[in-house]
Amino acid sequence: MLSGGEFHLEEDPTDAAHTFADEIRREFPNTVEKPLLRLVPGAGGLSVEPLVVGVVFSGGQAPGGHNVVAGLLDALTRANPASRLIGFLDGPIGVIKNRYIELTPERVEPYLNTGGFDMLGSGRDKIEKPEDLEACRKNLTALGAHGLVIIGGDDSNTNAAVLAEYFKANSVPVCVIGVPKTIDGDMKNDYIEASFGFDTASKVFAELVGSICRDSMSARKYWHFIRLMGRAASHITLEVALQTRPNLAIISEEAEARGWKLMDVVDLIADVVTRRAKAGKSYGVVLIPEGLLEFLADVKAMIAELGSILGEHEDYLKSLTSHEDRRQFLTEKFTAESAEVYNSLPDGIQEVLLLRDKHGNIPLSQVETEKLLIDLVSDRIREMKAEGRFPGSFSPLAHFFGYEGRCVQPSNFDADYCYTLGYTAAQLIRGNVTGYTVSARNLTAPVSEWVMGGVPVTSMLTVEMRKGKPKPVIRKTLVSVDGKPFRAFAAERDSWVEEDRFAYPGPIQYFGPSEVCDRLTKTLMLEHS
Ligand code: FBP
Repeated sequence: MLSGGEFHLEEDPTDAAHTFADEIRREFPNTVEKPLLRLVPGAGGLSVEPLVVGVVFSGGQAPGGHNVVAGLLDALTRANPASRLIGFLDGPIGVIKNRYIELTPERVEPYLNTGGFDMLGSGRDKIEKPEDLEACRKNLTALGAHGLVIIGGDDSNTNAAVLAEYFKANSVPVCVIGVPKTIDGDMKNDYIEASFGFDTASKVFAELVGSICRDSMSARKYWHFIRLMGRAASHITLEVALQTRPNLAIISEEAEARGWKLMDVVDLIADVVTRRAKAGKSYGVVLIPEGLLEFLADVKAMIAELGSILGEHEDYLKSLTSHEDRRQFLTEKFTAESAEVYNSLPDGIQEVLLLRDKHGNIPLSQVETEKLLIDLVSDRIREMKAEGRFPGSFSPLAHFFGYEGRCVQPSNFDADYCYTLGYTAAQLIRGNVTGYTVSARNLTAPVSEWVMGGVPVTSMLTVEMRKGKPKPVIRKTLVSVDGKPFRAFAAERDSWVEEDRFAYPGPIQYFGPSEVCDRLTKTLMLEHS
């Protein structure tokens, strides 16, 4: 349909009735309660006037971003060759500060199918303060813009909703459209089946983990503790586990559902290491999700308290010059339990937990949970050895995979998907709608059967506590312990503990049989099975 025929936007009857929290109704009076939209064959309703559209990358890199821009540019210029695409530089700050370049086909073409966001750069700035919203209005109006496409994750799409609402409230005729990006895979729901980048990044990590599994089984002397990026959600860890079958993979959402504390995870790992040692295997691989600590009952309670303390005393804490002073101040403010948990963590982690990015998130990529777990499991194994309960040796090695997977060439799936997302974003702007994120369904079917459209951002919002205050943000979709991907993993994992059932997916393939080159993630396949 998009590659040749006529098409238009239609209200989608599958839209479910939605209940909005009071905060959301209050903050988004002009963009709440909009219909779900779907692109369907047949001409009508889409502008053929020349349009000026801005595009910006927001947040962490994800493979395929350049193809979103390429799809957007192609769609706009096919509808009217006089349309223009403006690329804002270095993330949302580029829109605020009016830093941009004109994106012509000659400029975009060399970036087609490449990884990274380097065509424009990216950033984590937030468009939220009244003066920033006003600067965006002024800059976009001066450019004569009809639309702005924000390519970002949950926080950036939340930002798209804020900007769309501001423009609507002030009668600014600029449509704001979000595109679901993040390797973390947590921006998905009934209308967005996958965020772009997850497919490629999880395949890259699976290749690396598979290679380590094979090294571990060849050398037979190391335990590899591998932390995988993904922020709060464990989608990447679960997908990589399904692809590589490590001896143990911790899933944060399961840890939370079972009410595990830090020492429960240590017990679990020590138990697996011991079982393998008893089977004569002093080697193995354990996967740890980046956000694990936030899900452990004792650490989570401490982090919640820390959030409230930061809400009240952030400036004072920042004024304290030594780590020791900060630790003492917090120890006085915490409850006894949380003070104990905080003080039991290494200094490095204590300090990182005090940091927040511009969206109020802890920079989890800097929390070295794999090293913390190595230390704690080593202590436990030393005790067991002293009591004659541990027969083998334990030589752990720490790894963290994250940045390796964010800027690689997109897989065939992500390359096609991103181009289509960009192409669809252009249609939403041609349809003059605002406050929408591009939606994509039926993604396990051939591309020609994908269902593309738009989902109102407000319908994805929920209210979360950020720095101790309620904030409407897009609901992150975490791993469901009742979902098919987790259940498939849980049904198999016991056999991975003592046997070596590692799998080695190898590198992403681009040319060759479709079963190899167009393989989807196991997560997506299982979710649709
Ligand atoms: P987004 O949510 O912006 O897509 O970022 C994804 C991510 O790669 C996370 O997995 C990771 O925790 C974070 O970015 C790292 O952030 P930074 O790039 O600022 O180091």
